[in-house]
Amino acid sequence: MEVKSVERGSNIGSFYKLSTEERLRIVQEFSGLSDEEVQTLKTGALPGPSAQRMIENVVGVLPIPLGIAVNFLVNDKDYLIPMAIEDHAAKMARAKGGFRTSSTEPIMIGQVQLVKCPSPRDAENAILSSKQEILNKANQQDPTLVSKGGGAKDLRVRILPSLTGTMVISELLVDCRDAMGANVVNTMAEAIAPILEKLSGGSANLRIISNLADKRIARATAHFSKDDLGGGEVVDRIVQAYAFAAADPYRCATHNKGVMNGVTAFCLATGNDTRAIEAGAHAYAARTGHYSPLTRWSKDENGDLEGFIEIPAAVGIVGGITSVHPAARISLKILRVKTAKELGEVMAAVGLAQNLAALRALAAEGIQRGHMSLHARNIAAMAGAEGDMIDTVALAMVNEKKVRLDRAKELLTELVSSKSRNASHKEPRQAKKHPN
Ligand code: MEV
Repeated sequence: MEVKSVERGSNIGSFYKLSTEERLRIVQEFSGLSDEEVQTLKTGALPGPSAQRMIENVVGVLPIPLGIAVNFLVNDKDYLIPMAIEDHAAKMARAKGGFRTSSTEPIMIGQVQLVKCPSPRDAENAILSSKQEILNKANQQDPTLVSKGGGAKDLRVRILPSLTGTMVISELLVDCRDAMGANVVNTMAEAIAPILEKLSGGSANLRIISNLADKRIARATAHFSKDDLGGGEVVDRIVQAYAFAAADPYRCATHNKGVMNGVTAFCLATGNDTRAIEAGAHAYAARTGHYSPLTRWSKDENGDLEGFIEIPAAVGIVGGITSVHPAARISLKILRVKTAKELGEVMAAVGLAQNLAALRALAAEGIQRGHMSLHARNIAAMAGAEGDMIDTVALAMVNEKKVRLDRAKELLTELVSSKSRNASHKEPRQAKKHPN
């Protein structure tokens, strides 16, 4: 049965305290999921034929948990975010108006490597003089994409000195619309290679998409109040943490890893190619020759924190695994995104939120404490705690600095028996009140 989505915000209080059933019901209402889709989410079902279409040599499936982050407000639209874990940062951003985003057109780059060109300069001229013919050939490969306004839009040529001699690199700039684009770009690169060989007199070697998607960029910005963050000193410490990453590649790799904790999870949930996104993000971070943070943090005129992210967004909502994996399709439905451009912008907001959560934890309380409470909640649940008891047991373990399964079980036993003692103290009074 299809459930009609109801208009509600994504600011859902204490979402983490709800049972899985209650959370699912909220997600179902928010996104209009059918009962069947809810069932698929519960089991993570990936039918055999779908799995077979995703990779070769399939022997099984690897289920992983799919969580939902609430509180995301991006360009005044509410989002529930599959597989992100950071909603506190999103809540702080919401209090200041949420995230504002923008992005370029969805242009990917396809490269054709030409070697052994008798004259690289003549090859460049010949190729550029036949640009239209080459673009036409590329566009014949995907009339549907062209009819949607996409397709090969431009061609550029670079003469590249290399270890094995000078090469001529022809690059197709392809508007991929709502697809990630690897398939279409690779097909186009292969199709134009024979023309390029003829024009250059060289030999075509590689014909493949570039994962440095620097023409498909998403940006997000948000403000976070100093009071929500824990004071002006925390703002200063976060800005100092950013300055550290900007000055030092050892720190910067970890800083960007914190961003990618959000981005990669988001891409995994939506069936996008996490390896392509990771490669593009780190190469983009190093594009000036100095490996730099993907985010920037500064203090605004009110003393609050301002964050900014710029990241390649080679993500799609059609084609590939996004269309094959049932949970990926459901994740996209939960997100309620209409275009790949929108998906990329929300992804950028998630990366910014995740980075802030890490920096705040590091700058304000030390990461171990932050990690510890999540770990402690997991241990409490493993010991059998449910509902509010999870937090009570977890907090006690964190305070004692003894986050262990045996201690969780002891605390839980104490908690259960003190609850039942309290209940039995109440019983005689109730008995008096209502004597039968
Ligand atoms: C851990 O998964 C991510 C962090 O190390 C990121 C960071 O240091 O900024 C906490």
